[in-house]
Amino acid sequence: MNQNAIHRLLAGEKLQAPGRKIPRELFEKRLAANFTLVQDLFFGLYPDQEDAFSRLHGLLAQWFEQRPAALKAQDLQRQQEGNWYQSHRWVGMQLYVDRFSTDLKGLEAKLPYFQKLGINFLHLMPLTKRPKGPSDGGYAVNSYTDIDPRYGTDADFKQLSKTFREHGICLMLDFVVNHTSDEFPWAVKAKAGDPKYQQYYYTYPDRSVPDAFEASLPEIFPESAPGNFTYIPEMDRWVMTVFNTYQWDLNYTNPEVFLEMLGNLVHLANLGIDVVRFDALAFLWKKIGTVSQNLPEAHRLISLFRLCLQTVAPGVVLLAEAIVAPHEIVKYFGEGRLEGNACELAYHATLMACLWDAVATKKTLLLYKSLHEMPAKPESCTWINYIRCHDDIGLGFDDAHIAALGWNPQMHRRFLLDYYCQRLDWSPAAGAVFMYNPLTGDGRITGSAASLLGLEKALEAGDMEATTAAMDKLVMLYGIVLAAPGVPLVYAGDELGMRNDYSYLKNPDMADDSRWVNRPIHDWDTVARLGEPDLPATRIFQSLQHLIGLRKSLPELTDANNTSWHLPGNPHLLVMERRGNTGGLLVIANFDAAPQVLNASWVERLGYLSGGQYENLVDGSKTSIHSGLLELEPYALLWLKKF
Ligand code: GLC
Repeated sequence: MNQNAIHRLLAGEKLQAPGRKIPRELFEKRLAANFTLVQDLFFGLYPDQEDAFSRLHGLLAQWFEQRPAALKAQDLQRQQEGNWYQSHRWVGMQLYVDRFSTDLKGLEAKLPYFQKLGINFLHLMPLTKRPKGPSDGGYAVNSYTDIDPRYGTDADFKQLSKTFREHGICLMLDFVVNHTSDEFPWAVKAKAGDPKYQQYYYTYPDRSVPDAFEASLPEIFPESAPGNFTYIPEMDRWVMTVFNTYQWDLNYTNPEVFLEMLGNLVHLANLGIDVVRFDALAFLWKKIGTVSQNLPEAHRLISLFRLCLQTVAPGVVLLAEAIVAPHEIVKYFGEGRLEGNACELAYHATLMACLWDAVATKKTLLLYKSLHEMPAKPESCTWINYIRCHDDIGLGFDDAHIAALGWNPQMHRRFLLDYYCQRLDWSPAAGAVFMYNPLTGDGRITGSAASLLGLEKALEAGDMEATTAAMDKLVMLYGIVLAAPGVPLVYAGDELGMRNDYSYLKNPDMADDSRWVNRPIHDWDTVARLGEPDLPATRIFQSLQHLIGLRKSLPELTDANNTSWHLPGNPHLLVMERRGNTGGLLVIANFDAAPQVLNASWVERLGYLSGGQYENLVDGSKTSIHSGLLELEPYALLWLKKF
């Protein structure tokens, strides 16, 4: 039983009366339930810091008092509903407010667009103040609390969150927990020589400690920001900058940093956010002699954030942005005594990367191998499923899994880079390499989903057949993530099949970061033309809209650890079953460019074929089997109804 389940019990019957003020007593109960764990975690990370601990205690009570009454009531309602974030009713979209709708007011006006597509969960990319020049798309923060004027005002945000809440749309915002910008007030004070704030970051007077770190630290942005430390002349010190030189890593070995950042997290929760995306959380703890990612202390720190926030705002859940090896990702749900007490959600980066592997190889072998070898997740947790986001596609497969298939891991990664990044004449993909490291040969892939799947090249060549294939692949991939366990996230623009945007190359603040190729300005002209029969966007939008509607009508798509990834005996196919108490859904996808077949009696035994017929919910068709085989067109997507 995780802490959330304990809180549900503690809330008790008598507190359920609607409209009733949530008493302080409930906070005391929540704190009592979490106290021992919080204490153990805190003193494990910060031995002998009694003073900081007693301040933490006082702050939590203060923050509970400050939480708006409507949100306190929502917390309680959510706890009583169970794990609300596991429901099949959620369908998300990720967007940059400025590139989607100019500002927050503009975004509010797009409510009908979200409703039309069926979106009710929005990830808004960073909104708070950031440096004027490069800011890593807002992931270099100048403030955790103030909305950047380019988006509007704090009042605009409050209004937006209220309107969206009233319309059942939940909001996810980033908590850039690992670093601030070099213009953040703490960094400014550190630069001015204030020793207190120099200890908020990893700063050193000479290269000795940085060199010791560098011996085992990998490089995250080797092309644009090689190395992990930057010399700051104003303070004559080196500061740790794992990402860009203007992103200073916070020093969580200092308990003051934890307390201040917890305050920032609570502020975010009190704005009316439902999900907090813990950005780059694998990097939270650094230790010489290690890669300083996924360290046990980082996991403890994340649980500490979680358990503290839970006493104040238990309706708010955390998303782990841990784009790490398959066996590492599930650890962000909490392990052992902390199982289910860390992040409730995590990006399913393994499924995402394996889907792209399957497209390139036309085979699902690595996908099955990776998913079958992945440790089970706790029942109270779930995934964010996606095919594209604002970042690159990292090839973070487990080498042993690739080798087990008889492939050479290095050559396989090389093939994927070549396939997607225009180094193979025959490949339909039009992607770009992100952060190629000539020393290691590593690189990542970027590009919009449509361009990576061939739509860009097909339209340029006026090739109808290739255009159809690209659209089929896009719908197939979304058909998988919309049925997979967790919350599906559509990357804004994918619903229109938007292609790469090369305009970033002309902007000096963006030109060295090829991820901007997949951060397009939303194409409202095309939206206005939706419905025109020959427009690729029409087919894609309508297909997604239909699949989203279907998803919401199928309660078996609620995540209750009720998923089987069946091995179909055909290396080109993916077969996923979502078992329900009454119904069930069998998803079949053909990754091959040629037709493929599947044994019909096997499908019948699973319960998805009756009287020699199956029904595909994707297009409402009923098909009779004549040959004992289910025949699948290239890139076919089937959602079969259980009989
Ligand atoms: C996360 C973000 C990415 C950013 C990095 C550093 O990975 O998704 O866009 O560059 O953190 O903040």
